[in-house]
Amino acid sequence: MAQNVMITGAGTAPGLGYNFVRRYLENGDRVIATIRRPSPDLDALLEQYGDQLSVVTMDIADTASVEKAEKEIEALVPCIDVLINNAVMTTKYYPATIEEADLDQIAEVFNVTAVGALRVTKAFFPLLYASKMPAIVANITSEAGSMGACFRSDTMYEYCMSKAALNMGTLLLHNKYKEDHRMNVICIQPGWMRTHLPSPAPCDPYDNAEMMRLLIEKKRTDYDGPVFVTYEGEEYPW
Ligand SMILES: NC(=O)c1ccc[n+]([C@@H]2O[C@H](COP(=O)([O-])OP(=O)(O)OC[C@H]3O[C@@H](n4cnc5c(N)ncnc54)[C@H](OP(=O)(O)O)[C@@H]3O)[C@@H](O)[C@H]2O)c1
Repeated sequence: MAQNVMITGAGTAPGLGYNFVRRYLENGDRVIATIRRPSPDLDALLEQYGDQLSVVTMDIADTASVEKAEKEIEALVPCIDVLINNAVMTTKYYPATIEEADLDQIAEVFNVTAVGALRVTKAFFPLLYASKMPAIVANITSEAGSMGACFRSDTMYEYCMSKAALNMGTLLLHNKYKEDHRMNVICIQPGWMRTHLPSPAPCDPYDNAEMMRLLIEKKRTDYDGPVFVTYEGEEYPW
């Protein structure tokens, strides 16, 4: 059955969000792709897929923008079955040592990378609760947000710290719904992908998007299994 799928930070090819959009469209789902600025790549998909795709502007750093987008999306679909919080922010200080980093910018990164996913999820509760399935929220995190598997030293403070905070937000929300099953909330480490070209990364975001599309379906009602998983479905240390 076709689902209503919403993906944030989806306008940048070859980014992961854009590749999620392609994969869900190819699967026959109804896709809401959210962006911050016009996306010629999504315009091309609109031409190809017509009404199966909607593109909505939403700045996840800004509650008013998120709530405005929610109103627009309410008019497009009766529910959201899958929400993928994919958007991320980095500054010119990524990566940086503590001496190089501008610590005042870290709050802004937190507001997007950690709080943004929760801000979007919260604003979309009514549409998520309206899913017949129940709904699943997949927060795209990183191995860089793992404290248990941290191997780095004195680098990437804004990214690692904000992803660790996203992971905690994910777990708190997961635990909220673990009992009442109105939806499930997980976070996925998507692998190191060639989303910024040129890149030495081993994974193709189009391939990994499909692996995660299938994984998200498997995790939909897995309330007791691992919450932080890799794109291959393996448990990852918090
Ligand atoms: N690439 C990897 O190897 C890798 C590894 C581990 C984890 N991840 C995670 O995978 C996800 C996707 O990564 P990626 O490499 O595809 O990232 P990306 O190319 O940098 O894409 C990030 C997207 O987020 C959007 N964004 C930034 N700030 C936003 C805001 N305030 N409101 C709405 N959208 C905003 C960007 O929009 P603009 O185009 O307007 O800037 C962009 O489309 C991220 O969560 C990342 O941390 C990636």
